[in-house]
Amino acid sequence: MTSFVSSLASPPLSPLLRLRSTYYRCWYEISRGFTWIRREYHEQPARALPETLTPYQRHRIKTLQLTYGVHFEDQLHISTTLENYEYLDLLDQTKEKLGWEPDRNKELVDVGSLNFYYAPALHAFFHPHTLQGIELEGYRVYTNFYSRFDYAQCYIRPFANTSYTVMDFCNFTGSADGITCFYPFVKPEPLVAWRLPLKVFQPQRMFERMAHSLRPEGFVLMMNHGEDEAQWACTFAQQNGLQLKSQPQPIPPLFPRADVPIISVWNRA
Ligand SMILES: C[S@@+](CC[C@H](N)C(=O)[O-])C[C@H]1O[C@@H](n2cnc3c(N)ncnc32)[C@H](O)[C@@H]1O
Repeated sequence: MTSFVSSLASPPLSPLLRLRSTYYRCWYEISRGFTWIRREYHEQPARALPETLTPYQRHRIKTLQLTYGVHFEDQLHISTTLENYEYLDLLDQTKEKLGWEPDRNKELVDVGSLNFYYAPALHAFFHPHTLQGIELEGYRVYTNFYSRFDYAQCYIRPFANTSYTVMDFCNFTGSADGITCFYPFVKPEPLVAWRLPLKVFQPQRMFERMAHSLRPEGFVLMMNHGEDEAQWACTFAQQNGLQLKSQPQPIPPLFPRADVPIISVWNRA
């Protein structure tokens, strides 16, 4: 894998990207007003794994079940079940590849949690004392009229020490022993593709906040989509108060993805 550079030049933003951003800004402002909608979301447990899994996927899931004592399919829908096995597999491989064993019972924060569908995998891997998911657009409503917030309440319900906060992490004032950050936006195009406005694209501030929130012995575990995004992320991290604990590593995912996930672990500089 190519070496991770310390500075990158960003190309100018296209007029089309700016136009789409303006459109999404309207929706972003509207969704921020949906805080009053609350519906209790429940998922129908899958109970069994799909027949379509490959022998390798079946073997890996069996290993994860035995190692971590989990059966996500007993609580979660099939798609959420498989996503949790995928995240747990990424974390388990990270442990192997980086020779890294995070301490249990720590205060963790997850940045950019979406609807926090992977909270069960984080619990299985980290056994945190507390876990707080932070999401900028937590009140975005799905076509079934449930919001990300409603889904998150379902996924964190079994864990008394877990919360989901709708806020911009750039304004976070707390501290943490560990921060997880899966696929942060480090380029403007993916952010707009996720229907967010460019005004919330502030990677420098986000990484600065991560470094600032970290307790002295704390870690940031980051996952990026492919080498290009990983390079951007590493540059932002290095420029804003974090230092690499070990070289970023590609991690083969359990299920096919367009870009190979790249894992990196950081400490405060
Ligand atoms: C590419 S998605 C990844 C979601 C999730 N971590 C996952 O692995 O599926 C990035 C998420 O970060 C959220 N986000 C972006 N900027 C943020 C910020 N400043 N504070 C909190 N969340 C943010 C977005 O709304 C989006 O849900």
